[in-house]
Amino acid sequence: MFDLRLFSIRESGHRIHNPLTEHQLADLGARLALPAGARILDLACGSGELLATWARDHQVTGLGVDLNPDFLAHARARAAELGVTDAVRFVEADAAGYVADEPVDLAACVGATWIGGGVPGTLDLLRASLRPGGMLLVGEPYWRTVPTSPEVLAGCGVQSVEDYLTLPGLLASFGALGYDVVEMVCATEESWDRYAAPQWLTMRRWADAHPDHELHDEVRRLLQVEPQQYAAFTRVHVGWGVFALVER
Ligand SMILES: C[S@@+](CC[C@H](N)C(=O)[O-])C[C@H]1O[C@@H](n2cnc3c(N)ncnc32)[C@H](O)[C@@H]1O
Repeated sequence: MFDLRLFSIRESGHRIHNPLTEHQLADLGARLALPAGARILDLACGSGELLATWARDHQVTGLGVDLNPDFLAHARARAAELGVTDAVRFVEADAAGYVADEPVDLAACVGATWIGGGVPGTLDLLRASLRPGGMLLVGEPYWRTVPTSPEVLAGCGVQSVEDYLTLPGLLASFGALGYDVVEMVCATEESWDRYAAPQWLTMRRWADAHPDHELHDEVRRLLQVEPQQYAAFTRVHVGWGVFALVER
């Protein structure tokens, strides 16, 4: 089990906890053209940037669910900053098995498909909250270049090459599960850098300020290995996208 505190430390400066930029997230929100008042459920919402900014820009409403109290505190502060506290709500809960009280127009899980035991299970979970004809949004990694050695696989932080599909394979898998893919936005090397690299400065400053913290040595260790590892493996091999799906 990962230590939530490490994520809170290294991503404390992030509003978006995935390799898309603010611009890409805003562009996706605009392209989906959700009507004002549309209801969104965002499972594993992180710091709530999708909900808060789309509520501001498109007058949608939403509920975000996440386990990390630090990220949820950021989400509530961001909603207040953007003047959308009446439109969005955030609850601290396990998103695995979470079903909304009322059907929603858009059900999302962006970057946490382990909550449903993988993509198919997560789509089933999201669909349980969706009104007929509604839209699903799922964020998922894929192989840009399939690793051919155990070293590369380990460098990507993945146990098995089967853990991810290629992009065409992932899109085909959505089709095989009975969904049309109606939009997508994918990370670029530059947007990956904007997600990964700011974590290093945040980690360095945190380590300098917390020499006696029990996670200090681990944060220092990560800082020493991650930049090279990221450049050699993740940046080259791992793609990441958000896919909008509508049931056929
Ligand atoms: C990669 S981040 C994505 C966050 C957000 N969707 C975004 O794109 O900014 C994964 C998120 O999943 C949350 N998470 C992990 N397991 C969870 C669970 N079982 N229930 C709720 N949230 C969970 C983490 O706290 C983290 O905020």
